[in-house]
Amino acid sequence: MRKRIVAGNWKMHKKLEEGLSLARDIRVRLEGRCSEGKEVILFPPFIHLAGIARLLEGPTGFHCGAQNCHHKTEGAYTGEISASMIASAGASHVIVGHSERRKYFGEDDALLAAKIDRALEEGLTPVFCCGETLEERESGRQFEIVGRQIRKALFHLPEEKIRKLHIAYEPVWAIGTGKSASPEAASEMHAFIRSEVAAQYGRESAEAISILYGGSVKPGNAAGLFAMPDIDGGLIGGASLQAADFEAIFNAL
Ligand code: 13P
Repeated sequence: MRKRIVAGNWKMHKKLEEGLSLARDIRVRLEGRCSEGKEVILFPPFIHLAGIARLLEGPTGFHCGAQNCHHKTEGAYTGEISASMIASAGASHVIVGHSERRKYFGEDDALLAAKIDRALEEGLTPVFCCGETLEERESGRQFEIVGRQIRKALFHLPEEKIRKLHIAYEPVWAIGTGKSASPEAASEMHAFIRSEVAAQYGRESAEAISILYGGSVKPGNAAGLFAMPDIDGGLIGGASLQAADFEAIFNAL
């Protein structure tokens, strides 16, 4: 059975003490309710990682990860953070390919493929993000775009590695806009992503991968989204910054 996951991407929010306090609050609320098959993953800014990793040690099903990593092992790359540093801070996951990284930092498919390789080599679980813009959806190209994103960044991997990552479908037009994809539209894309993985790697591998939905998930719409067969949880932005909202979304899993 693939995992069901509620993950919080805090983006560039929360000072250190605020972040530790939010993680503590989330642990208190959800302790005893996570398991091997039902997980919480927090993606705070880099400087919170070591502290939050320590804070989440102990109970089953709590993890933390970074929002990005560099694609090289180490070197003279001022201001960058490597996958091995992330792992050494006690984190287990890393987001790769978020649309904000693609848009504001020019990250392309080849770079993302290299980041995926680096993350997996360090034993991190990548959460690979894909999703189309509004213009791409309005011109009916959403399947072509998302299909290409996953092929170019992931399909060089051997079968045993593809099972070690999660995918997050995050339509760009739904991120931070308050306009979530409908459960039907999200589910249609999740089924497409799974079928693409199945065509490349076989049904068994495709069924093992958790596919999360992200984009304006809130306590009020989470249950409808999570009830769909191919939606295995959510990658939450804004609503992950309040422990009560994050708990309510977890309750919908
Ligand atoms: P929002 O939940 O704020 O729309 O952000 C989604 C997201 O980008 C998660 O990675």
